Amino acid sequence: MKQTWTDVDRYYSDLLAPSDSQLDAVLEASEQASLPPIGVSPLQGKFLQLLVRITGARRVLEIGTLGGYSTLWMARALPAGGRIVTLEFDPHHAEVAQENLRRAGVADRVDLRVGRAIECLPKLVTDAPFDLIFIDADKESYAEYLDWSLKLSRPGTTIIADNVVRDGKVADPECDDPRVQGIRRFAARLAAESRLSSTALQTVGIKGYDGFTLAVVLS
Ligand code: SAH
Ligand code: DHB
Ligand code: MG
Repeated sequence: MKQTWTDVDRYYSDLLAPSDSQLDAVLEASEQASLPPIGVSPLQGKFLQLLVRITGARRVLEIGTLGGYSTLWMARALPAGGRIVTLEFDPHHAEVAQENLRRAGVADRVDLRVGRAIECLPKLVTDAPFDLIFIDADKESYAEYLDWSLKLSRPGTTIIADNVVRDGKVADPECDDPRVQGIRRFAARLAAESRLSSTALQTVGIKGYDGFTLAVVLS
């Protein structure tokens, strides 16, 4: 099946999310700088971009920048005056991302903060509320990131989290991978949170078998 997943991913990304010189440059510079190839796929980047458009988001928060690939997809859909705050712990990743976003011409719309997300988040109270929040950093901390996302939200805020399926391991309560346990704590909190309405979408493609959760803040 994996070959079919990648064939279909390529078929649709060629049609609906074709690359361009700026997106290519982000991926090339990230590879040159030895960043891990774990960013979203082109179709997933386009999906995030569509979410920005569908929600009319003007203030976006991203937790986990890497080389800025997902950041660039979302930044391109911001209305005039819109901003993305993106949080990155690794100074090398942040440096590569900053240069990538400058080269892509979106640096004026992106506020890249370097540090542990859990230390950056309390400082964002004055930038809140965010309209759209994308959680994509260390999986062990997703539950805490959800708590902060709620603090930085308003009714109607959309919260999307990446890597919530992990090859299906999420459904195995015995799995001792701390990242999988982190996702399960996050999922339990999503379920328990009466201020949220949430779902999960499994995905296959060039990134293998994984998925997103999607939630909206009700009140
Ligand atoms: N959103 C990116 C991929 C992010 S990969 C894209 O799709 O293009 C996850 C990133 O989170 C990595 O760059 C990693 O360094 C960063 N990260 C890991 N732990 C973190 C933490 N505690 N705080 C902030 N960023 C963290
Ligand atoms: C990993 C992190 C991601 O955000 C991702 O999309 C894929 C893999 C990881 O840490 O392995
Ligand atoms: Mg991810």
